[in-house]
Amino acid sequence: MHLPLALRDAIAARLSGVPTRNLSLAAGRLAERYRSPAAAASPADDERLAYLAIRLPATFAAAYAALAELRARCHGFAPSSLLDLGAGPGTATFAAAELWPELAAARLVEQDAAWLRLSRELAAAAYPALEVEGRQGDLGRTPLGQADLVVAAYSLTELPLERALPVLRRAWEAAAAALVCIEPGAPEGFARIRRYREELLAAGARMAAPCPHQQTCPLPAGDWCHFAQRVERSALHRYLKSGRLGYEDEKFSYLAAVRREPPAADARILRRPAIAPGCVTLHLCGPHGLAVTRIPHRDRERFKLARKSRWGGEWREPAR
Ligand SMILES: C[S@@+](CC[C@H](N)C(=O)[O-])C[C@H]1O[C@@H](n2cnc3c(N)ncnc32)[C@H](O)[C@@H]1O
Repeated sequence: MHLPLALRDAIAARLSGVPTRNLSLAAGRLAERYRSPAAAASPADDERLAYLAIRLPATFAAAYAALAELRARCHGFAPSSLLDLGAGPGTATFAAAELWPELAAARLVEQDAAWLRLSRELAAAAYPALEVEGRQGDLGRTPLGQADLVVAAYSLTELPLERALPVLRRAWEAAAAALVCIEPGAPEGFARIRRYREELLAAGARMAAPCPHQQTCPLPAGDWCHFAQRVERSALHRYLKSGRLGYEDEKFSYLAAVRREPPAADARILRRPAIAPGCVTLHLCGPHGLAVTRIPHRDRERFKLARKSRWGGEWREPAR
């Protein structure tokens, strides 16, 4: 996916005049920061700008994909207020604004004041109709208020689990209708999501996505539920990441918890569908657990649907 034009322009304007060499060095330091959990919490100014160039397109794509699945599962859900926890430059807020033009107000909670300034600048340029309030503070202590939709995108992951869980409970209390948590699509990220899921179900939440059921997660040890979003790389992005491909795949794990019972679902597609000439194979998670379903060409209706299906999408059996 491409970043929306207005957001791309706002970022380009912010980066214009910054020497590419400086951005490149900052991108290296940023990558080092993510490899070393002991690194200081607050990035430097040039690292924030490097984040806009190399990380925001990927975290935007993941947030957009997760929120789009929530929207697909909960027809008629149209949040007018959003709470973005650990907002950074406001990435998840921008993804929500794209999906729900009726979104009127967003409160961004972030420990880093410079991120809040940058998020306001980007929002004013790209989403001028959106009312943005920045609230500087720690997610564990800062009053959150309430919002229709609460998002914690790649932020709980920065807290040790024993600090993340109380923040998760606060996030759920703040959610009038829905809470979406996104973590990196790696075994540790999914282990977090699975844990958050247990906590939220115990607190009375219902899972809208990706889980099509409310039972214990059936994935065996060693497997992890994750999805991928392809992100187009700009020339600057390729240069800063020394990448040759014109795209990268952002892997993420997520959950969307809601207060109202979501409509019943058949299954979620857990891997890229394997499409062979006479057969499509789908790895599914449904109310009856995990299944590998082979759909032969002669099963015409299902075969047609399966050929168009995608990793991360819902699988719905055709009406009989
Ligand atoms: C990896 S960034 C993600 C930013 C944004 N949500 C995105 O998806 O691009 C994580 C953000 O969470 C913020 N953060 C981490 N721990 C926090 C805490 N305890 N209180 C407030 N913000 C926190 C960091 O400052 C950082 O901006």
